[in-house]
Amino acid sequence: MRILITGGAGKLAQYVAQALCARHSLVLMDKKPLPEECEDVRRDLPFLLGDLTDKEACLRATEGVDAIAHLGAIPGAGPETFAVNTVGTWNLYEAAQHHGVKRVAFASSINALGLGPYRISEKGFPLQRLPIDEEQPADPQDNYALSKYVNEITARAFHSAYGIRTHCLRLCAIWRPSWFKDYHPRPLEQLKRPHHEGYLVSTWHYVHSVDAAEAFRLSLEKEDAPDFAVYYVVAPLTNRPEPTQELIARFLPQWLPLAQGIQGNQGLYSTAKIERELGWRANHLLPKLTGGAS
Ligand SMILES: NC(=O)c1ccc[n+]([C@@H]2O[C@H](COP(=O)([O-])OP(=O)(O)OC[C@H]3O[C@@H](n4cnc5c(N)ncnc54)[C@H](O)[C@@H]3O)[C@@H](O)[C@H]2O)c1
Repeated sequence: MRILITGGAGKLAQYVAQALCARHSLVLMDKKPLPEECEDVRRDLPFLLGDLTDKEACLRATEGVDAIAHLGAIPGAGPETFAVNTVGTWNLYEAAQHHGVKRVAFASSINALGLGPYRISEKGFPLQRLPIDEEQPADPQDNYALSKYVNEITARAFHSAYGIRTHCLRLCAIWRPSWFKDYHPRPLEQLKRPHHEGYLVSTWHYVHSVDAAEAFRLSLEKEDAPDFAVYYVVAPLTNRPEPTQELIARFLPQWLPLAQGIQGNQGLYSTAKIERELGWRANHLLPKLTGGAS
């Protein structure tokens, strides 16, 4: 397939390009050029400088393309985030439809759920069960979470209207390989957002860059996959040495009644759906962790 990677100059694009380059013809698009020191596989790929909020740039980028790995976005809450992420995604899908693109793997985020770290109100998140799966209703509040959630709905609309197949990959904190070697869990008191009762900096999740990229490859290549789906892409264990039930008791005691089935260091998110439907699993995990408690 000829595959467009948006956000091609970004951090994750390196790994997605590496995962796809052996079997596909790739083209990168980004509003900024590749980093000058870029030494990875992207150095030799065609590169289009263009902004997703520019319809013409999206039309140029999608011409002759079979599939898209859509990574281009502002990856955090900020004044431009909602406008850029939602309009950019809409433009890309319109252009994809115009050129008959068949498949999109969309870099959504665990933040689409609305659990944090940018959550605005102190209103408790309406959790239904643990581990969290794709049936859990979202409650996004901030402009990043909302932009990703809206983009999932945009993707569903283009599937419903035009049959473009999309998998919304709810990526969590993507850890580069070097971070695994140097990782030391932070003291527990640093995990909570200061002055913001009840919310955490993260729900102790991570995924290795190579595993995140593999989700894009499987999404775009798999023939017998659903035409529209949302998936969590998360390592199965937390990034903490403490048993997860202890963490919940300390930080989220209101969730303890839902946590009876959580074992050992099990993470809060289920990846059963993506394992079953795309054959994905996290292959790069942190070694058994010690220390970190305070
Ligand atoms: N890194 C993570 O931990 C993480 C977690 C969840 C989801 N994601 C999502 O994965 C994707 C890739 O993340 P990343 O870590 O590589 O981020 P990144 O910031 O390194 O890469 C994003 C790229 O998108 C480009 N971009 C932004 N706005 C654009 C526009 N209007 N037109 C064209 N290009 C534009 C940026 O220039 C950048 O190169 C993003 O969509 C992000 O929201 C990342």
